[in-house]
Amino acid sequence: HLICPMSTSPYVDPNKPSQEIWEEFSMGFTPAVREVVDFAKSIPGFRDLPEHDQVGLLKAGTFEVLMVRFASLFNVVERTVTFLSGKRYSLDTLRLLGAGELLHSMCEFSEKLAALGLDSDEMSLFTAVVLVSADRSGIQDLNSVEALQDNLIRSLRNLVMQNHGEDSATTFTKLLLKLPELRSLNNMHSEELLSFKVHP
Ligand code: HEM
Repeated sequence: HLICPMSTSPYVDPNKPSQEIWEEFSMGFTPAVREVVDFAKSIPGFRDLPEHDQVGLLKAGTFEVLMVRFASLFNVVERTVTFLSGKRYSLDTLRLLGAGELLHSMCEFSEKLAALGLDSDEMSLFTAVVLVSADRSGIQDLNSVEALQDNLIRSLRNLVMQNHGEDSATTFTKLLLKLPELRSLNNMHSEELLSFKVHP
């Protein structure tokens, strides 16, 4: 099984060589990863960071950006997950196939993010904040990354304050609290990915 919505289906042909399974899977998620790279380049100031740091933030943060972008694949009301092929699978089916705590945590994350009712500009600015807030181990120019993060957070705050009336302060706080949640989903997901690479 390959229980990741970036796949076309959770079922894999047991007779297929694992290299082929991995190749087909990567054809599915590669365009999404490219879009994250293009998005990063469009963040004002990102391309002024040292190239080494641009790569570092993308390596550490791409999953988190994709998680935010694809949160709507998790439908908590109907208890389904839509895979990149467009096919939907029930949470119960995915559980039976072996999905666990991570699937549950991602559903919860998606539900809470949707509840904040962000519009597309807010979502895009939040995604930029997620990317520049990625793990900084190995980053060379920490000051520039922090300055960029401060600017983006300030813009996000202004936008949320304009749009959310009385709920502005709580909405903004809840958004910032999503950052450590994303980090933890990223860590859990990396473990799934590693163990899949070891025993496909
Ligand atoms: C699990 C790869 C992005 C959601 C997995 C697994 C792999 C994988 C190899 C383990 C599959 C198994 O053992 O059956 C990738 C790669 C990604 C990516 C290479 C980068 C492009 C994402 C994103 C999401 C996601 C963006 C969410 C929107 C999940 C879920 C599981 C999973 C829900 C199953 C968790 C569980 O077993 O509880 N992924 N994934 N993945 N992935 Fe991904």
